[in-house]
Amino acid sequence: MSPSCSSRRIQHRDPNDSHHPKAVANLNWSILFRWIVLVLFVIGHIGFWVSLFNRINATGLHRATIKAIEKGIVLVCLILPLLLMAFEGTNDPLRFGELSKLSPWSYTYSLFAIGFGLIAGPLWLLHRPQFHTASDRYRTVQTDIDKHLHRSNPQWLVGSHARKSLKLPGNQLMHLETNTKSLLLDRIPDGLVGLRIGHLSDIHLTGEIPPEYFRHALEWLVSQEIHLLCLSGDIIDKPEALPSLPMIFGNLGDSIPRLFVLGNHDRACGLDSTVRRVMTQLGWLDCGQYDYRLETPLGQVVVLGNERPWFHRETTPGFSSAEAQADEFRLGISHSPDQFAWGKKQDLSLLLCGHTHGGQIRFPWIGPVIAPSKYGSRFASGVFHQPPTLMHVSRGISGVHPIRLGCLPEVSVLELRKYK
Ligand SMILES: [Fe+2]
Repeated sequence: MSPSCSSRRIQHRDPNDSHHPKAVANLNWSILFRWIVLVLFVIGHIGFWVSLFNRINATGLHRATIKAIEKGIVLVCLILPLLLMAFEGTNDPLRFGELSKLSPWSYTYSLFAIGFGLIAGPLWLLHRPQFHTASDRYRTVQTDIDKHLHRSNPQWLVGSHARKSLKLPGNQLMHLETNTKSLLLDRIPDGLVGLRIGHLSDIHLTGEIPPEYFRHALEWLVSQEIHLLCLSGDIIDKPEALPSLPMIFGNLGDSIPRLFVLGNHDRACGLDSTVRRVMTQLGWLDCGQYDYRLETPLGQVVVLGNERPWFHRETTPGFSSAEAQADEFRLGISHSPDQFAWGKKQDLSLLLCGHTHGGQIRFPWIGPVIAPSKYGSRFASGVFHQPPTLMHVSRGISGVHPIRLGCLPEVSVLELRKYK
């Protein structure tokens, strides 16, 4: 055996050598740690700005102001990481995985984003609407889904933006889910058990979705032997769509009381007074202006409306919870589910809402992310229970943005039962 062979056999590598197995293992762990920190940073960063986006949209600010702030939020969310990287003089995102090497500004923001992600992230997951849907408070009796209604009705004129967006695979625009749900209420007079309420929301007349589509949805509702029909806001977005109101909302017969509230989009387009007048002329009761005691074939129903935070009014004298009769059935219609607390304060048995469109884009497992609510996407759609009120949030049937993924437009018949 040659001396050189012998010396090779007993050779030990210097642990400081970067090729030493220990050094390689340390390096791998270090890279993994940097990736974890970077992922936490990205989650916290996006989460914070999305959270701000949702809550700005829940305010009563004018839509132009909200849109300007929205653009600022999206811009900052996209640009801030790039600015920080430029500030650090690097194009390697993993640099943000080494907090100690960052300059004070980047360090401070990174700590904030990671802290936000670590605190708000688990809370956000815990408050996913799918975990909070009051599954013991309702049963889905029937669900039918009509797909591509524009194909089966080629005479319907779909707008150019909607036509383009319909080419997106999976877009559920021009689909329609018609469903019947049995709602189980804490308090309902015996006589009203079996009351059937038609609920639709968020029509958003822009001229993109043909009026025949909305009429089709309404005709299905009135064909379902309902006792009340409730529309929870966002009727119109463009003045050009005004002439289609009678065709959609008129001639539905006088036997079913029809009630509506307005939403933020009705105010944003400046047509709120006109829409109130036209809808009233068409026989709809304006719950945004007044509260009502309605006689139905099954008994009396007290209906309170709420258009906050966009329109404010006091409860009609004689309708407050303090003046309520012990056995009266109190129903609320609010555009925004953020009025859940108001519903409870008003001692409502049932509150009907819209506004959030179910999130419009729902991701597998995590569900909706964007929803214009101070609760984020917590009440994006579904049935929620906080005693004494059961809240039904409709996904609505349309929206300004012609896209729906995993979030079918819906109209519902709600059949009231007693919770036992
Ligand atoms: Fe809406």
